[in-house]
Amino acid sequence: MINYVDIIFGLAWGDEGKGKISNAISKNYDIICRWNGGPNAGHTVYINDKKYKTHIIPCGVFQNKLSVIGPNCVINIDKFFDEIDYLKKEGFDTSLIKVSPRANIITEKHIQYDLKFLKPKLGTTGQGIAPCYADKALRVGKLAKDYLDKQYLWDGELYGNILCEGAQSFWLDLNYGDYPYVTSSETLPYSACSLGFSPKKIKDIIGVAKIYDTKSGVDPLFPESLWSNEDLNKIIDLGKEYGSTTGRKRIANWLRLNHLKRAVKISGTNKVIINKCDIIEEVNIYKLILDNDKDGPNFIQFNDFKSMKEYITNEIKEYCEGEVVFSGNRSNI
Ligand code: IMP
Ligand code: MG
Repeated sequence: MINYVDIIFGLAWGDEGKGKISNAISKNYDIICRWNGGPNAGHTVYINDKKYKTHIIPCGVFQNKLSVIGPNCVINIDKFFDEIDYLKKEGFDTSLIKVSPRANIITEKHIQYDLKFLKPKLGTTGQGIAPCYADKALRVGKLAKDYLDKQYLWDGELYGNILCEGAQSFWLDLNYGDYPYVTSSETLPYSACSLGFSPKKIKDIIGVAKIYDTKSGVDPLFPESLWSNEDLNKIIDLGKEYGSTTGRKRIANWLRLNHLKRAVKISGTNKVIINKCDIIEEVNIYKLILDNDKDGPNFIQFNDFKSMKEYITNEIKEYCEGEVVFSGNRSNI
């Protein structure tokens, strides 16, 4: 029987440091699940100061927990086995990694279509994500049950305390994101129920943001002109804002507070963690974007981080009953 479900997901455009946080708390759960996306995601975690990168496998494997990849995920078989081999070599128990028989398989055709038509226009990760979900919607998709060995398949009932890890984040959601500059899956907590539990089982929804915004891939909210902003480039360098899947430099912008508030409100987030605060302190510029009006973005600037934190907390508290935590890149929570 399921006791309760907690969900951790991103409130921005991805790359908020969800992996670090879900890894820090995953020892408190029985099962760790992924509900969306595929090899487009990149999770970076540190175990005993050693860096590990995964794309599709949930971080439960690092804590010796059952790690489930749900039916709304998409799998690249070669990459899946590369990841299994990598984790095995590093000494982790890969028999804990299970895939829903109903997850869809990414084929070479999906990747070629993405590289030819989508990546150049939208800056996708080129992993075949959209074509694979399109075939799923057309009901001609290939399912994991026909491609994976039995030992990797799991269609059991979830039990105990469950942590669901989101990939890609709020503004990349197919329904609520900045369409068409989105991914092709549902990234909000509502969609975690596709793993097979009742929404009534959800206890905590932990939303992770960053104290500044970044985007990998095309988006008019991140105009080209931002590349030449010296302060934002400092943030990119100090924050090591390079894609963990593509290696691409991410474009940075000041935090869009109203976007963050909307993400908290619609997702039902009851705990907000804002990461990488040490980066903004190092750059020593405390700036927010409120909204875009006709003449461009409206900024507020603070003299110090303390006043910026107070302002953000007050604004978010309107929608979030729990804590707002400000976290440093290198500090643990
Ligand atoms: P796709 O998911 O490869 O189709 O890419 C669609 C958009 O989502 C592009 O702007 C990507 O850069 C972005 N994206 C996809 N996955 C991630 C992720 O895990 N982190 C950050 N951005 C992502
Ligand atoms: Mg990531």
